[in-house]
Amino acid sequence: MSTAPPIDKLLSAKPATPKHPQIGAPLTTRPLAVLGGPPLFNQPLHVGRPNLGDRDQFDALVDRMFENRWLTNNGPIVQEFEGELEKLTGAKHCVALANGTLALELMIRELDLTGEVIVPSFTFVATVHALRLNGITPVFCDADPETHNLDPHHAAQLITPRTSGILGVHLWGRPCNVDALQEIADAHGLALLFDAAHAFGCTYKGRPVGTLGDAEAFSFHATKFVNSFEGGAVATNDDDLAARIRQGANFGYSPSDEVEALGTNAKMSEVCAAMGLTSLSSMQDIVETNRRHYRTYGALLSPLHGLHLIEYDETEARNYQYIVVEVGPDAPLTRDELLAVLRAENVLARRYFHPGCHRMEPYRTEQPNAGRALPGTERLASQLLALPTGTAVDDQDIANVCDIIHQAYDAAPLIRAALEKPVLTDR
Ligand SMILES: Cc1ncc(COP(=O)(O)O)c(C=O)c1O
Repeated sequence: MSTAPPIDKLLSAKPATPKHPQIGAPLTTRPLAVLGGPPLFNQPLHVGRPNLGDRDQFDALVDRMFENRWLTNNGPIVQEFEGELEKLTGAKHCVALANGTLALELMIRELDLTGEVIVPSFTFVATVHALRLNGITPVFCDADPETHNLDPHHAAQLITPRTSGILGVHLWGRPCNVDALQEIADAHGLALLFDAAHAFGCTYKGRPVGTLGDAEAFSFHATKFVNSFEGGAVATNDDDLAARIRQGANFGYSPSDEVEALGTNAKMSEVCAAMGLTSLSSMQDIVETNRRHYRTYGALLSPLHGLHLIEYDETEARNYQYIVVEVGPDAPLTRDELLAVLRAENVLARRYFHPGCHRMEPYRTEQPNAGRALPGTERLASQLLALPTGTAVDDQDIANVCDIIHQAYDAAPLIRAALEKPVLTDR
């Protein structure tokens, strides 16, 4: 394994020093795997390996579930989980659901959106599929190159008589420009909703995510910093909307056991809520770990030109669950070349999000010219790379990942020649 110096030593170095005294030169003499050396990591180092929380707490909740003989259908553990979500977000209602995609689908359907909805192309494809599965045409809005979120100026230009709403995504836990979007929505009588899959525990101007727009959808998928194995929730202050989502998630059954509307099965089970509660108990520790990792990456990568770690506003609540770097045109290697270097070392960095949704089916066929209006999206999709973090990763892993990147910078011409035609897939 690497001979990287202790992390404290690395962090205490002044970031302004042009060449870091310890990491300016390669930390190891080991040849990079992409140039024929053995991989630095014996086991794959993943992005989004689950945070597990306290096993004893989880086991006690599962015992309770067995004692109750209540496994699903709005059981007491789901109700407790919803109560905790409501406390944490300040939203009047948090309806726990089977996953984040169903949360999006139900939120869109129960808000009666029709026709066209403005949505970023630079997002995980579930955001856009949730519209299309509701028979709505997604109208792709460009990403602001600074914030990576919906560009409100472009959003305003996309409004037509068929537009019924704007669906923003708080990417990396950094909320959209909510005020600007709300102004546009109000001026045109549109619904404003958010995919908050990345933004649980975050704030916008001090207001918790979960209370913004008409409604927001969370994901508690295993890869999210708070997880319930699979899970999601819709947060809203609207009593009627919350009741409709609850009914829609349970085949259209009303509380008096009659089917009163069209519905699906999107209920969260008790065991998932048990994991959700376990995860919530560790939430602050996970955020602390993520924040420490973020700072470590920042210190170790700062001497590298053309590589820019995204910024988190420390005056707002952030979950720091994504370590995203922009590999700019002045870096000695492209994003895809760097990815090939890391993957050869068993570091399974991810191209979040590549390509933009407008380049995926069915949108690519339905809207073949969409990319022309999305230069910011095209740039981000070709330059961003997500690196491993979370409680499954330790300081030494991060030092090793950064060591690989430093070595790759030093050996860039050799790597470029060796890679000729990299074949990359996002798994
Ligand atoms: C931005 C975004 N939206 C929606 C989803 C879908 O959530 P889920 O996997 O819980 O269905 C995810 C991730 O999984 C996501 O990253």
